[in-house]
Amino acid sequence: MRTRKKKHGEERLEAVSDLFLDEKPEKLEGIYLEIGCGKGNFIVGNALKYPERRYVAVERVRDVVMLAAEKVKANGLTNVRFINCDAKELCERLGECTAEVIYLNFSDPWPKARHYKRRLTYRDFLAEYAKLLCPGGKVCFKTDNAGLFEFSLSEFAEAGWKVDRVTYDLHNSEYAADNIMTEYEKNFSEKGMKIHRLEAYPPEK
Ligand SMILES: C[S@@+](CC[C@H](N)C(=O)[O-])C[C@H]1O[C@@H](n2cnc3c(N)ncnc32)[C@H](O)[C@@H]1O
Repeated sequence: MRTRKKKHGEERLEAVSDLFLDEKPEKLEGIYLEIGCGKGNFIVGNALKYPERRYVAVERVRDVVMLAAEKVKANGLTNVRFINCDAKELCERLGECTAEVIYLNFSDPWPKARHYKRRLTYRDFLAEYAKLLCPGGKVCFKTDNAGLFEFSLSEFAEAGWKVDRVTYDLHNSEYAADNIMTEYEKNFSEKGMKIHRLEAYPPEK
């Protein structure tokens, strides 16, 4: 996601700094984790709907995660925290935390074949997610990108994950009622693009 450098960035970040997790956070069990949260619509919608859950949102672009944190603050939410890092560093950053659900929403597709290892559903990332998930925990993935979706189905299968509740048209499916839209999702679906979605469970440890 491209953003212009935000005006007064340092001051604005300072104003939301309490929403960012420490380098080595306290042990958090059963969190709901979003990777690549963008400007935060999804995490805010979820945190408002399920105030009893604890959410952690990860985003590598500082000015983008700042916008998400500002949205959380403006909504008076106390159940969301952020980490400004790359997904590659996540296990290290989260230490002993465990996740009930990991959300991947409209992850960058990296369409060039030689970049496949950067896709957030590449098998090396799946192995990291499997370490983080609680028993019975799952990844929920949605995208408009058919190529990334097919790649992901094949990576999950290759890594021995059980894929469930697959739809190629989320907004016209039985799962639509519970769906919380992201910024990209709103944009793509307004252009008539179909949203693909799946849930996936790692092999038992
Ligand atoms: C296409 S945008 C989607 C944003 C949001 N999830 C949505 O659906 O509106 C992808 C986001 O993931 C972030 N991202 C991409 N790769 C990442 C990585 N390896 N680690 C953390 N964030 C990443 C990007 O900076 C960007 O904000």
